[in-house]
Amino acid sequence: MHPLQCVLQVQRSLGWGPLASVSWLSLRMCRAHSSLSSTMCPSPERQEDGARKDFSSRLAAGPTFQHFLKSASAPQEKLSSEVEDPPPYLMMDELLGRQRKVYLETYGCQMNVNDTEIAWSILQKSGYLRTSNLQEADVILLVTCSIRSIMRGCDNMCSYCIVPFTRGRERSRPIASILEEVKKLSEQGLKEVTLLGQNVNSFRDNSEVQFNSAVPTNLSRGFTTNYKTKQGGLRFAHLLDQVSRVDPEMRIRFTSPHPKDFPDEVLQLIHERDNICKQIHLPAQSGSSRVLEAMRRGYSREAYVELVHHIRESIPGVSLSSDFIAGFCGETEEDHVQTVSLLREVQYNMGFLFAYSMRQKTRAYHRLKDDVPEEVKLRRLEELITIFREEATKANQTSVGCTQLVLVEGLSKRSATDLCGRNDGNLKVIFPDAEMEDVNNPGLRVRAQPGDYVLVKITSASSQTLRGHVLCRTTLRDSSAYC
Ligand code: 5AD
Ligand code: SF4
Repeated sequence: MHPLQCVLQVQRSLGWGPLASVSWLSLRMCRAHSSLSSTMCPSPERQEDGARKDFSSRLAAGPTFQHFLKSASAPQEKLSSEVEDPPPYLMMDELLGRQRKVYLETYGCQMNVNDTEIAWSILQKSGYLRTSNLQEADVILLVTCSIRSIMRGCDNMCSYCIVPFTRGRERSRPIASILEEVKKLSEQGLKEVTLLGQNVNSFRDNSEVQFNSAVPTNLSRGFTTNYKTKQGGLRFAHLLDQVSRVDPEMRIRFTSPHPKDFPDEVLQLIHERDNICKQIHLPAQSGSSRVLEAMRRGYSREAYVELVHHIRESIPGVSLSSDFIAGFCGETEEDHVQTVSLLREVQYNMGFLFAYSMRQKTRAYHRLKDDVPEEVKLRRLEELITIFREEATKANQTSVGCTQLVLVEGLSKRSATDLCGRNDGNLKVIFPDAEMEDVNNPGLRVRAQPGDYVLVKITSASSQTLRGHVLCRTTLRDSSAYC
């Protein structure tokens, strides 16, 4: 499967209640504001100041662009004073305005995307884009794309979810083929890879017969499955170990995991390996054990909270995110309060929140009643969003005063003199574009390029962004001593 296909499928599978989720709300805001800003703002060329020109020319002359998976929940609002990215990057408005055939290109493979909505979603997630070869169709070069499908499908059969019916049974790609791809990406200068799958940590490569022993699967404590326990095969810990050995300067992320598949060897590896990001998505869906049972999630609130504590003990400083559904069948006000209290208790760094939307074919469709009125679902969702933001702000503020390793992505969208990157927890970090020392070349003063690792001293934090000032350029390996 072409890697971009998996992105498309992810987007299509987001058909459920999309407008009610945090991520899609911000996506809509972005579109609304982009049309606003295009009529209210002077042209990007006129706005471009010296610093921006300077950075653009450095981009043009610099190394291969690095792309980093953007958090779908990051705010995408554009203020009227905001400065647009200059050419050669194709803006979303332009793409939607053209309504022509669009190809997305990555490493020489092309894929025709007729649906501009889907193309827009891909572009939204895929970072820097460069137009090239505008002939009979627009060709958009995804200079780097960090999304790689390592497994597909799901055997969990959560009662609300359509994925097992649309994506089929769980099946994993052979490790050897994943490693080959990661090596190629490393050779091309890519600095971050996200291993992607519907249940990424349920990975099981059965292609190498010598590993198909009768070793039973270790689940997280207190978790059960809706299917018969599987045995053998090369598991996620092995894949993560191998992938993270390819290039110690390449950051490894993975999404989306299931909380049941976090055995100690996975947690230990994340803790020990410098280039595996200490960031775990732990979809809870609800804070009420009663609702979790109706959802057939295979764990109670208590087991989930115990797992959170265990993860935090095993990986100090880990950044946690989660998915929640508001207004599932039979959810009472008391159940909702339980979810609110879980958000407070765990204090996630990021969240993806959805209003329940009944899907045909699912167990809930056949056996449960979608009995929470729409306005109640939305009210509960808004409450969850507010609480999540308050808690994320508190969680992120603990970084103020710390020095963090940031992978530089490019210019900040809101200021021509600021740069933007991501910290290990995948949070956006903004800092002024200033000269700094390069720790590997004492005495040399440098300015950051996309793909550089820099140390940033954090000075302020909101629910979705950190701000700070840059200290020096470094490497991922050298930085472990600082952070
Ligand atoms: N309604 C609302 N949200 C859903 N999700 C999955 N199915 C539904 C549904 N029917 C959410 C879950 C999942 C995320 C990817 O989408 O929170 O983790
Ligand atoms: Fe859907 Fe549950 Fe599988 Fe996630 S684990 S894809 S929610 S069935």
